[in-house]
Amino acid sequence: MSSVAFWNRVHSQGTAHWEYGVELPKDDDPVLHAALAHFGDVTGKRLIDLGCGSGAASLFFAARGAEVIAVDTSDQAVLNLQRYCAAGGIENVHPMTADAFRLTDVGPADLAYGSMILHHLEPFPKFVDVLRETIVPNGRGFFYENSSVSRLLIWFRTHLVGRWWIPKNGDDEEFPLAPQEIDVLRKQFAVRTAYPELLFFRLISMYLLRGKYPKPFATLDRWGYRIPWLRKLSYRQYVYLSS
Ligand SMILES: C[S@@+](CC[C@H](N)C(=O)[O-])C[C@H]1O[C@@H](n2cnc3c(N)ncnc32)[C@H](O)[C@@H]1O
Repeated sequence: MSSVAFWNRVHSQGTAHWEYGVELPKDDDPVLHAALAHFGDVTGKRLIDLGCGSGAASLFFAARGAEVIAVDTSDQAVLNLQRYCAAGGIENVHPMTADAFRLTDVGPADLAYGSMILHHLEPFPKFVDVLRETIVPNGRGFFYENSSVSRLLIWFRTHLVGRWWIPKNGDDEEFPLAPQEIDVLRKQFAVRTAYPELLFFRLISMYLLRGKYPKPFATLDRWGYRIPWLRKLSYRQYVYLSS
Protein backbone atom coordinates (compact mmCIF):
# COMPACT_ATOMS: atom_id res chain seq x y z
CA MET A 1 0.00 0.00 0.00
CA SER A 2 1.37 3.44 -0.88
CA SER A 3 2.13 5.89 1.91
CA VAL A 4 -0.68 8.25 0.81
CA ALA A 5 -3.23 5.40 0.71
CA PHE A 6 -2.06 4.22 4.13
CA TRP A 7 -2.47 7.70 5.73
CA ASN A 8 -5.78 8.34 3.94
CA ARG A 9 -7.08 5.17 5.55
CA VAL A 10 -5.76 6.21 8.99
CA HIS A 11 -7.34 9.67 8.69
CA SER A 12 -10.70 8.25 7.63
CA GLN A 13 -10.95 6.11 10.77
CA GLY A 14 -12.01 8.63 13.39
CA THR A 15 -12.11 7.57 17.03
CA ALA A 16 -14.63 8.64 19.67
CA HIS A 17 -12.78 11.74 20.81
CA TRP A 18 -12.42 13.07 17.27
CA GLU A 19 -14.69 15.62 15.70
CA TYR A 20 -14.73 15.55 11.89
CA GLY A 21 -11.62 13.27 12.14
CA VAL A 22 -9.76 16.15 13.76
CA GLU A 23 -7.93 15.73 17.04
CA LEU A 24 -8.33 18.62 19.45
CA PRO A 25 -5.07 19.82 21.02
CA LYS A 26 -4.46 19.29 24.72
CA ASP A 27 -3.71 22.64 26.32
CA ASP A 28 -0.93 21.13 28.43
CA ASP A 29 0.71 19.10 25.65
CA PRO A 30 4.45 19.18 26.53
CA VAL A 31 5.58 18.81 22.91
CA LEU A 32 3.52 21.76 21.70
CA HIS A 33 4.69 23.87 24.64
CA ALA A 34 8.33 23.00 23.92
CA ALA A 35 7.79 24.19 20.35
CA LEU A 36 6.07 27.36 21.56
CA ALA A 37 8.94 28.12 23.94
CA HIS A 38 11.33 27.87 20.98
CA PHE A 39 9.13 29.94 18.64
CA GLY A 40 8.22 32.71 21.08
CA ASP A 41 5.17 34.84 20.34
CA VAL A 42 3.52 33.28 17.27
CA THR A 43 0.92 36.02 16.79
CA GLY A 44 0.64 36.91 13.11
CA LYS A 45 3.50 34.57 12.17
CA ARG A 46 3.19 32.27 9.15
CA LEU A 47 3.65 28.80 10.56
CA ILE A 48 3.74 25.61 8.50
CA ASP A 49 2.49 22.47 10.28
CA LEU A 50 4.18 19.88 8.10
CA GLY A 51 2.44 16.50 7.95
CA CYS A 52 -0.38 18.03 9.98
CA GLY A 53 -2.30 14.75 10.19
CA SER A 54 -5.30 15.09 12.46
CA GLY A 55 -4.61 18.79 12.97
CA ALA A 56 -4.03 19.14 16.74
CA ALA A 57 -0.85 21.20 16.38
CA SER A 58 -2.37 23.45 13.71
CA LEU A 59 -5.31 24.25 15.99
CA PHE A 60 -2.99 24.82 18.96
CA PHE A 61 -0.85 27.42 17.17
CA ALA A 62 -3.86 29.02 15.48
CA ALA A 63 -5.49 29.51 18.89
CA ARG A 64 -2.37 31.47 19.83
CA GLY A 65 -2.65 33.78 16.83
CA ALA A 66 -0.47 32.16 14.18
CA GLU A 67 -1.47 32.00 10.49
CA VAL A 68 -1.15 28.25 10.08
CA ILE A 69 -0.57 26.51 6.78
CA ALA A 70 -1.44 22.90 7.52
CA VAL A 71 0.22 20.67 4.94
CA ASP A 72 -0.25 16.97 4.34
CA THR A 73 -0.14 14.59 1.39
CA SER A 74 -3.26 12.87 2.74
CA ASP A 75 -6.21 14.63 1.12
CA GLN A 76 -8.42 12.94 3.73
CA ALA A 77 -6.49 14.62 6.57
CA VAL A 78 -6.70 17.98 4.76
CA LEU A 79 -10.43 17.56 4.07
CA ASN A 80 -11.12 16.71 7.74
CA LEU A 81 -9.33 19.84 8.91
CA GLN A 82 -10.97 22.02 6.24
CA ARG A 83 -14.41 20.84 7.32
CA TYR A 84 -13.66 21.32 11.01
CA CYS A 85 -12.32 24.86 10.48
CA ALA A 86 -15.25 25.81 8.23
CA ALA A 87 -17.77 24.54 10.80
CA GLY A 88 -16.02 26.34 13.66
CA GLY A 89 -15.32 29.59 11.79
CA ILE A 90 -11.56 29.17 12.23
CA GLU A 91 -10.03 31.42 9.59
CA ASN A 92 -6.35 31.28 10.42
CA VAL A 93 -5.80 27.61 9.59
CA HIS A 94 -5.23 26.96 5.88
CA PRO A 95 -5.22 23.20 5.21
CA MET A 96 -3.50 22.23 1.95
CA THR A 97 -2.76 18.96 0.22
CA ALA A 98 0.90 19.29 -0.64
CA ASP A 99 4.09 17.30 -0.53
CA ALA A 100 6.92 18.30 1.80
CA PHE A 101 9.19 18.46 -1.24
CA ARG A 102 6.97 21.22 -2.70
CA LEU A 103 6.99 23.33 0.46
CA THR A 104 8.35 26.38 -1.33
CA ASP A 105 4.99 26.52 -3.14
CA VAL A 106 3.18 27.22 0.15
CA GLY A 107 5.95 29.25 1.82
CA PRO A 108 7.66 31.43 2.81
CA ALA A 109 7.14 30.72 6.49
CA ASP A 110 8.49 32.25 9.69
CA LEU A 111 8.15 28.97 11.53
CA ALA A 112 7.97 25.28 10.68
CA TYR A 113 6.55 22.67 13.02
CA GLY A 114 6.33 18.93 12.48
CA SER A 115 5.50 15.92 14.58
CA MET A 116 6.63 12.52 13.28
CA ILE A 117 7.21 13.73 9.73
CA LEU A 118 10.97 14.11 9.05
CA HIS A 119 11.52 10.37 9.14
CA HIS A 120 9.08 9.97 6.21
CA LEU A 121 11.06 12.19 3.88
CA GLU A 122 13.50 10.73 1.36
CA PRO A 123 15.83 11.86 -0.13
CA PHE A 124 16.35 13.78 3.10
CA PRO A 125 19.10 16.19 1.87
CA LYS A 126 16.76 17.35 -0.90
CA PHE A 127 14.01 18.05 1.66
CA VAL A 128 16.43 20.00 3.87
CA ASP A 129 17.31 22.25 0.91
CA VAL A 130 13.57 22.86 0.36
CA LEU A 131 13.03 23.60 4.05
CA ARG A 132 15.94 26.06 4.09
CA GLU A 133 14.45 27.85 1.12
CA THR A 134 10.99 27.95 2.72
CA ILE A 135 11.87 29.28 6.18
CA VAL A 136 12.72 32.99 6.20
CA PRO A 137 16.30 33.91 7.17
CA ASN A 138 15.56 34.49 10.89
CA GLY A 139 12.95 31.76 11.06
CA ARG A 140 12.84 28.72 13.28
CA GLY A 141 11.80 25.11 13.18
CA PHE A 142 10.78 22.49 15.70
CA PHE A 143 10.34 18.80 15.03
CA TYR A 144 9.22 16.01 17.32
CA GLU A 145 10.70 12.81 15.97
CA ASN A 146 11.56 9.22 16.61
CA SER A 147 15.19 8.10 16.58
CA SER A 148 17.21 5.22 15.18
CA VAL A 149 20.08 5.58 17.69
CA SER A 150 19.23 2.44 19.67
CA ARG A 151 20.29 -0.63 17.65
CA LEU A 152 18.19 -2.80 19.91
CA LEU A 153 15.01 -0.84 19.14
CA ILE A 154 15.79 -0.92 15.42
CA TRP A 155 16.35 -4.70 15.57
CA PHE A 156 13.00 -5.02 17.36
CA ARG A 157 11.32 -2.80 14.76
CA THR A 158 12.82 -4.72 11.83
CA HIS A 159 12.26 -8.26 13.07
CA LEU A 160 9.21 -8.20 15.35
CA VAL A 161 6.93 -5.25 14.61
CA GLY A 162 4.03 -6.22 12.33
CA ARG A 163 4.44 -9.96 13.08
CA TRP A 164 2.33 -12.17 15.32
CA TRP A 165 0.36 -9.95 17.71
CA ILE A 166 2.80 -7.06 17.60
CA PRO A 167 1.20 -3.95 16.08
CA LYS A 168 2.71 -1.90 13.28
CA ASN A 169 1.61 1.73 13.36
CA GLY A 170 3.55 3.26 10.51
CA ASP A 171 3.68 2.86 6.73
CA ASP A 172 6.13 0.62 4.85
CA GLU A 173 8.37 3.44 3.66
CA GLU A 174 9.20 5.30 6.86
CA PHE A 175 12.30 4.70 8.98
CA PRO A 176 13.24 6.39 12.29
CA LEU A 177 15.35 9.54 12.02
CA ALA A 178 19.08 8.78 11.91
CA PRO A 179 21.90 10.85 13.47
CA GLN A 180 23.30 11.27 9.93
CA GLU A 181 20.07 13.05 9.00
CA ILE A 182 20.52 15.45 11.92
CA ASP A 183 23.99 16.13 10.48
CA VAL A 184 22.38 17.00 7.15
CA LEU A 185 20.15 19.53 8.94
CA ARG A 186 23.29 21.01 10.59
CA LYS A 187 24.61 21.98 7.14
CA GLN A 188 21.74 24.45 6.72
CA PHE A 189 20.60 25.34 10.26
CA ALA A 190 21.83 25.74 13.80
CA VAL A 191 20.51 22.50 15.33
CA ARG A 192 19.95 21.43 18.90
CA THR A 193 18.47 18.10 19.92
CA ALA A 194 16.94 17.20 23.26
CA TYR A 195 15.48 14.09 24.85
CA PRO A 196 12.33 15.14 26.69
CA GLU A 197 11.88 11.69 28.18
CA LEU A 198 13.25 8.19 27.91
CA LEU A 199 10.85 6.17 25.79
CA PHE A 200 12.46 2.75 25.80
CA PHE A 201 11.20 0.22 28.35
CA ARG A 202 7.57 1.33 27.89
CA LEU A 203 7.76 0.00 24.33
CA ILE A 204 7.84 -3.50 25.83
CA SER A 205 4.45 -2.89 27.39
CA MET A 206 3.05 -1.01 24.36
CA TYR A 207 4.12 -3.52 21.73
CA LEU A 208 4.84 -6.91 23.33
CA LEU A 209 2.28 -6.89 26.15
CA ARG A 210 -0.62 -5.18 24.32
CA GLY A 211 -0.43 -2.16 26.67
CA LYS A 212 -0.59 -4.22 29.86
CA TYR A 213 1.51 -3.53 32.97
CA PRO A 214 2.59 -0.03 31.91
CA LYS A 215 3.65 1.13 35.37
CA PRO A 216 6.84 -0.88 36.00
CA PHE A 217 8.12 -0.02 32.53
CA ALA A 218 7.28 3.68 33.05
CA THR A 219 9.28 3.53 36.29
CA LEU A 220 12.25 1.99 34.46
CA ASP A 221 12.06 4.78 31.86
CA ARG A 222 11.97 7.42 34.60
CA TRP A 223 15.01 5.93 36.34
CA GLY A 224 16.85 5.42 33.07
CA TYR A 225 16.30 9.05 32.15
CA ARG A 226 18.62 10.04 34.99
CA ILE A 227 21.52 8.36 33.18
CA PRO A 228 22.65 10.73 30.39
CA TRP A 229 24.00 8.07 27.97
CA LEU A 230 20.84 5.97 28.33
CA ARG A 231 18.66 9.03 27.69
CA LYS A 232 20.14 9.24 24.18
CA LEU A 233 18.68 5.81 23.36
CA SER A 234 15.17 7.22 23.71
CA TYR A 235 12.81 6.59 20.81
CA ARG A 236 11.67 10.23 21.03
CA GLN A 237 13.59 13.44 20.50
CA TYR A 238 13.07 17.15 19.91
CA VAL A 239 14.93 18.77 17.03
CA TYR A 240 15.24 22.55 17.33
CA LEU A 241 16.24 24.56 14.26
CA SER A 242 17.40 28.16 14.23
CA SER A 243 18.86 30.12 11.35
C1 LIG B 1 2.92 9.90 11.68
S1 LIG B 1 1.72 10.95 10.92
C2 LIG B 1 1.89 12.38 11.96
C3 LIG B 1 0.68 13.26 11.96
C4 LIG B 1 0.70 14.41 12.95
N1 LIG B 1 1.78 15.33 12.68
C5 LIG B 1 0.77 13.89 14.36
O1 LIG B 1 1.80 13.99 15.00
O2 LIG B 1 -0.24 13.33 14.80
C6 LIG B 1 2.57 11.48 9.46
C7 LIG B 1 1.76 12.40 8.56
O3 LIG B 1 2.62 12.91 7.55
C8 LIG B 1 1.97 12.86 6.31
N2 LIG B 1 3.03 12.76 5.27
C9 LIG B 1 3.77 11.69 4.94
N3 LIG B 1 4.63 11.99 3.95
C10 LIG B 1 4.43 13.31 3.65
C11 LIG B 1 5.00 14.21 2.71
N4 LIG B 1 5.96 13.81 1.87
N5 LIG B 1 4.57 15.48 2.67
C12 LIG B 1 3.57 15.90 3.52
N6 LIG B 1 2.98 15.09 4.43
C13 LIG B 1 3.40 13.80 4.49
C14 LIG B 1 1.07 11.64 6.40
O4 LIG B 1 -0.01 11.72 5.50
C15 LIG B 1 0.63 11.70 7.87
O5 LIG B 1 -0.56 12.45 8.03
